[in-house]
Amino acid sequence: MTHRVRVPATSANLGPGYDAFGLALALYDVFEAEPAELWSIEVWGEGEDVLLTDERNEVARAMRRVFDEVGYSGAASVRCENAIPVGRGLGSSAAAIVGGLMLGDLLAGAELTRERIFELATELEGHPDNVAAAVFGGFTLCWNDGSGARAERIEPGSGFAAVIALSDEALPTAEARLALPESVPHGDAAFSAGRAGLLAAGIALGRRDLVSAGLVDRLHEPYRARLIPDMAATREALLSAGATGAVLSGAGPTVLGLVVAEGDVFTLF
Ligand code: HSE
Repeated sequence: MTHRVRVPATSANLGPGYDAFGLALALYDVFEAEPAELWSIEVWGEGEDVLLTDERNEVARAMRRVFDEVGYSGAASVRCENAIPVGRGLGSSAAAIVGGLMLGDLLAGAELTRERIFELATELEGHPDNVAAAVFGGFTLCWNDGSGARAERIEPGSGFAAVIALSDEALPTAEARLALPESVPHGDAAFSAGRAGLLAAGIALGRRDLVSAGLVDRLHEPYRARLIPDMAATREALLSAGATGAVLSGAGPTVLGLVVAEGDVFTLF
């Protein structure tokens, strides 16, 4: 029997919510798998020329993580139909991991909870924000309660849509994380804490003024700007075109704008 799952692209951070906020976008990778004698992996669409198709493939690794968890010893034939651009800050890696865990769960009959899938995905990804939005959808807030990663889905108030200014260049997240300092000035931390609160409240309440004030960050964007020379110009272009605010999508280099819109609008340009 072939199992099929669909996982959304995600935008992490949203400015001041570094490693904590995530937003699911209406752009999806589709993963299929069926039991087989030996592992085989096909990748079609985005990343088909760069993604690995051996045992290092992220979908297959995540499937094996579930198999190990429940003591299932099978292999699988896996097919990835990718629409999420790779390495641009739209959660392609998180989608592969979450898709693999869900397929692994289905093939092994493991019946893991979404919370457990989120925990495993965080372990594999190394940070929780993209995988939270990929697992739970909508707008998600993450934290660590001491025993592991936790996430809460917030239903966005109506009236916002994401606009993505997709970068042609890829920027590995590991490289973008290395650009960050060990510590930040206390004033910048306080500034970003206030903005993060405003942003979450604004999204939950559908308040454009709060979202606009909240989409400003001093924790990571200033340090990543030197890796992304066109970040400031792209942000300005989105704001000039009427965006409520614009921030790096995840670790970049893509820039995400939030615009006032009715309905479920998603634009990629
Ligand atoms: N929070 C992560 C980072 C997201 O900014 O490094 C990476 O997609």
